[in-house]
Amino acid sequence: MSISRRKITVVGAGYVGSSCAQLAASKDLASEVCLIDVVEGRPQGIALDLNQMAAVEGFASRVRGTNDPGDTAGSDVVIMTAGKPRTPGMSRSDLLETNGRVISAVADYVRETSPEAVVIVVTNPLDSMVHLMRARTGFPARQVVGMAGVLDSARFRFFAAEATGTATRDADAMVLGAHGDSMVPVPEHTSVAGVALNALLSAQEIDALSDRTRHGGAEIVGLLKTGSAWFAPAASAVAMAGAILGDEKRLMPSACLLNGQYGLEGIYMGVPALLGARGVEAIVELPLTAEARIQMQKTAGTIAADLETLRDAGLL
Ligand code: 2OP
Repeated sequence: MSISRRKITVVGAGYVGSSCAQLAASKDLASEVCLIDVVEGRPQGIALDLNQMAAVEGFASRVRGTNDPGDTAGSDVVIMTAGKPRTPGMSRSDLLETNGRVISAVADYVRETSPEAVVIVVTNPLDSMVHLMRARTGFPARQVVGMAGVLDSARFRFFAAEATGTATRDADAMVLGAHGDSMVPVPEHTSVAGVALNALLSAQEIDALSDRTRHGGAEIVGLLKTGSAWFAPAASAVAMAGAILGDEKRLMPSACLLNGQYGLEGIYMGVPALLGARGVEAIVELPLTAEARIQMQKTAGTIAADLETLRDAGLL
């Protein structure tokens, strides 16, 4: 297995961050995976565990656990997972100010230590946190992207596969908009092995799947009671990191800064993005139904409200 001399930093050694470090290392995405957290001992312990796992699994990546931002220097990709997760009854927006402060602190060192890095933000509320990361780092928009569409689409893909009795990997889906209840699943761009979903399921069945997708994160929060999902979120962030490090030009729904696309300007929101070595290399405008276009405007309104709260708190 070849391994490139690359460095990925994962910020936050909670469940999502630890899973990101494990996946990035076991896929040999980089020669160094740096896991940083403010809690002393935790990232170091996880790094030691993962480095011992390498003996059994055979991967070559080395994991470094640290509390020192200086150790993240020269990263090619930074995956930002630090912050509080939701608990039952909370919306992602309830985390706005707490996690906004965490984003600001991390942005301040990433700007200094890894000015060339592509930053993938996972912290919620996603769309406003990625906006804040870009504003605070001052990085070009292509260098700061949010993970959510890959996760939301993965949820839609699983539900579509389950409903049609097919393999999950054969399902393909597109979910746009904010990473929240107003997200926009797009059934017209959803298929199973190339067969359009509406050839396989009734309109009511598709509506039920879209609705379950919109509340896919909350469904897991409700079951876990003490936190939110981590396996699929981590896999989604690492897939994006792989596309960037490998210059794969993958088309992945991602939160990107819009510059007139979909009739929106100056906000981050989930849209199909071409991911390669430069980060977000292009934003693709899909043909949408009139109803989906209205939903895109509505979902943008929820993000604008969160940005206003961040401004009122003096964070943006
Ligand atoms: C989710 O949807 C953590 O927001 C994330 O599960």
